[in-house]
Amino acid sequence: MSGGRPRVREMRGEDLPAVLVIEDRVFPSPWTFEIFLVELERPGSIYLTVEEAGGIAGYAGARMFGQEIHVTNMAVAPERRRRGLATELMLECLRRGMELGGRYVTLEVRQGNTSALEFYRRFGFEELGLRSGYYHETGEDAVIMATGDLQAESYRALISDISGRPEGKDI
Ligand SMILES: CC(C)(COP(=O)(O)OP(=O)(O)OC[C@H]1O[C@@H](n2cnc3c(N)ncnc32)[C@H](O)[C@@H]1OP(=O)(O)O)[C@@H](O)C(=O)NCCC(=O)NCCS
Repeated sequence: MSGGRPRVREMRGEDLPAVLVIEDRVFPSPWTFEIFLVELERPGSIYLTVEEAGGIAGYAGARMFGQEIHVTNMAVAPERRRRGLATELMLECLRRGMELGGRYVTLEVRQGNTSALEFYRRFGFEELGLRSGYYHETGEDAVIMATGDLQAESYRALISDISGRPEGKDI
């Protein structure tokens, strides 16, 4: 890649070795190559990578369930965090999800994952409740989070604020 600007694009099968390096470093129960492949081939799935000079720095995934955009996975390499890369991934995920008819976003996140909780709160996610013992390897509870209507004026204003782009057009 030329220059240092991050670039978000669709994840491809050939990206999986680099994606798995991050996945294995970040999660206690990492997804396997096969899980990613199935997800990539699933109709209505949205899988994205963010690249910088030096290669893939992070990725995000979501699945559509009617009007629901369900975030399934999101990670940024530890040494590349707090530079807005996950923000770029989420903005693109929202844009593509809305193109596929999405009106709101849901996800589960570990109760103790304060970084991710903060990240999602910034995107207007609210906590709906807990799913007890959801993470079987640690027994940890999941916090269920969701946005309101992505097309609501207040949500568009939030996204415009985060993205620095004017309200009213694409996310
Ligand atoms: C959550 C995660 C994806 C965020 O990635 P990132 O690229 O660092 O996020 P960004 O730089 O876009 O952060 C945007 C904002 O989110 C919030 N945020 C992100 N990380 C945070 C942290 N560690 N503590 C507090 N707030 C945080 C901040 O508001 C931040 O804005 P700021 O840096 O201007 O303060 C990353 O920490 C990660 O990969 N964590 C491990 C995997 C994971 O938890 N995935 C999500 C669950 S599926």
